[in-house]
Amino acid sequence: MLVFVPPHPLIKHWVSVLRNEQTPCVIFKSAMAELGRLLIYEASRDWLPTITGEIETPIAVASVEFIDPREPVLVIPILRAGLALAELASSVLPATKTYHLGLRRDEETLQPSIYLNNLPDKIPEGTRVLVVDPMLATGGTMVAAIDLLIERGVTNKQIKVVSAVASPPALQKLNNKFPGLHVYTGIIDPEVNEKGFIVPGLGDAGDRSFA
Ligand code: PRP
Repeated sequence: MLVFVPPHPLIKHWVSVLRNEQTPCVIFKSAMAELGRLLIYEASRDWLPTITGEIETPIAVASVEFIDPREPVLVIPILRAGLALAELASSVLPATKTYHLGLRRDEETLQPSIYLNNLPDKIPEGTRVLVVDPMLATGGTMVAAIDLLIERGVTNKQIKVVSAVASPPALQKLNNKFPGLHVYTGIIDPEVNEKGFIVPGLGDAGDRSFA
């Protein structure tokens, strides 16, 4: 599994804004969207299918290369918090299709349960899939989401995960189950506490975005 923390000062900046407990809800949500935009840009490098051709500029004929609109990237935000991180996905990617997944983690058992699944029954072979969720804490939510994709014909090599903060146990769990996966994250924090929160983390990303 590839885990990439892009070494970009803007990514560090937005992670720092998110970490601050004084950051108000509206700024938190827009900082999350900005971080998502930057991470999705990094995740899409060398990944998008292109078509080439020639067009006329006002001066001469030029060779051109566009993103192929026939092969949109599937963007899967995991509700609620993934909505904020994926908000600017279509401002980076010219061709996307979005399918929402709602997963809620039980506060006691930390086990995820699915309350919304908008995925199509079958996902065409070779489709590129971006799964977006700010927090990889125990990793259980992301594993459940990827299992749903694999049931629909996606292989883990086609999937890229975008998160704001990831923990070592979550990355270990994902690596054990989906070795071909690529994970792009703003930062890796050292631990997860007994309540399932990443430490130091940024708190409850869903509540801080939408409460
Ligand atoms: C949080 C977070 C992830 C999940 C991570 O969601 O946004 O989806 O927990 O935890 P895990 O890696 O231990 O499974 P939550 O269930 O609180 O829902 P919300 O986004 O609606 O707040």
